[in-house]
Amino acid sequence: MLLSEAVECILACPICKGSLNLQDMGNHLTCLCCQKLFPIHNGIPIFLNDDSRSQNDEKLFRDSIAAKYVSREKYDLLRFAGEHHCIPVMRIHADNFRSRLSPDSWMLDVGIGYGWHWSEMIDENVRIIGIDMSLGNLLIAKSILGEDSNVLLVCANASELPIRDGSISGVWSVQTIQHFPDSVFERFQKEMNRILSKSFIMEIYNLQPAILHRLIYRLLGKRLHRRGHTGQWELNRLSRAEWIRKWHTFRSGQASMDFRYSELFFHPDLHVIPERYPVKLEQFISISLSRVASLFARQGQICIESRISPPLTSCSKNVPA
Ligand SMILES: C[S@@+](CC[C@H](N)C(=O)[O-])C[C@H]1O[C@@H](n2cnc3c(N)ncnc32)[C@H](O)[C@@H]1O
Ligand SMILES: [Zn+2]
Repeated sequence: MLLSEAVECILACPICKGSLNLQDMGNHLTCLCCQKLFPIHNGIPIFLNDDSRSQNDEKLFRDSIAAKYVSREKYDLLRFAGEHHCIPVMRIHADNFRSRLSPDSWMLDVGIGYGWHWSEMIDENVRIIGIDMSLGNLLIAKSILGEDSNVLLVCANASELPIRDGSISGVWSVQTIQHFPDSVFERFQKEMNRILSKSFIMEIYNLQPAILHRLIYRLLGKRLHRRGHTGQWELNRLSRAEWIRKWHTFRSGQASMDFRYSELFFHPDLHVIPERYPVKLEQFISISLSRVASLFARQGQICIESRISPPLTSCSKNVPA
C-alpha cells in the first residue's frame, strides 16, 4: 500500500517533522513526536494548517466547484480539465519530467488539482506525492487516477509540507505557485530547499504576461491582470526575468536555471482551444525560437536543477539537503 510505504519513507509531521504512525485501521496518522493526530479521508491524509487561511477564499471556491463535479465520469472530468489546460502538450512534458527520475525515486506535484497529468502513466516506477490544499480537488483526482495509481494524494499546504528532509528528487508544479501570496511563496521556497535531495530537478509552470495577449486585451478594452488579488484568488503572471530573480539564490546559487515557454496556441480566455493541437510546431518554436514564443505563449516554465549527478532517492538512500 502506497500510503504505508510513504509513512515509512517520506511523510513526516508538518509541524515538528517527527515520524508518523498509521493508526486505527488506517483512519488517521499520529505524530510519534508531538502526538498530533491527522485524519485520513477516503485514503487521503489531511495535514492542513493555519497557513491555509491566507488562501481561504481560493480554497473554498475550489472546493465548491469540485463538489459540483465530483460525481462525474472520468471522461467528463478530463474534458473539464481540458478547458483550462492544454492536455496533449502538458502530458508530454509530464512524461519527460518523470522519465528523468530514477526508478524508486519520489517526486512531488505541488497543487496537483485533478491529477490529470498522471492519469495515463505507463512507467509506474516513480512514485508521486500529489499535494493540494483543496480536498475537493483531491477527491476528483482520486476518481481520475483510480484506486491502484502510484500517486499518493495528500491534503496539505505547500508552505508547510508533511515531507522528510532531503527525500524528494523531483518537484513538478503547474499553475499553482502563481496563486501564492508573497508570504506563502517564501515559506514554500524554504520548504523546497528542505525537502529536495542534493540532486534534484524542478519544473514549474505558470501563466505569463505575453505581449500579444496584453495587446489583444487592450484592443478589446480590457486589461490583462498582471499581479495581486483578482476574484477569489491571488494571481501573479510573472515574466522570465521576475521568475529568475525569485529563484537565483536557491541552494546558495548552486542550482542551474532555464526558462522555456509552452501552451503557445492555447488561450481559453480568448476562446482559442485548437481541436488538433499543433504539438510539433509548438515544440519547434519553443526550442528554436524562444523569443518569438515569449510574445504569445500562455505559460512560462522555469526549470531549476542541481548541478550534480542524476537524482536518486529511495527509502534507504535519502540524502539530507
Ligand atoms: C490552477 S490549479 C492547477 C491544478 C493542476 N496543477 C493542473 O495543472 O490542473 C491550482 C491548484 O493549486 C492548489 N493550491 C493553491 N495554493 C496552494 C497551496 N498553498 N498549497 C497547496 N495547494 C495549493 C489549488 O487548490 C489548485 O488545486
Ligand atoms: Zn509532530
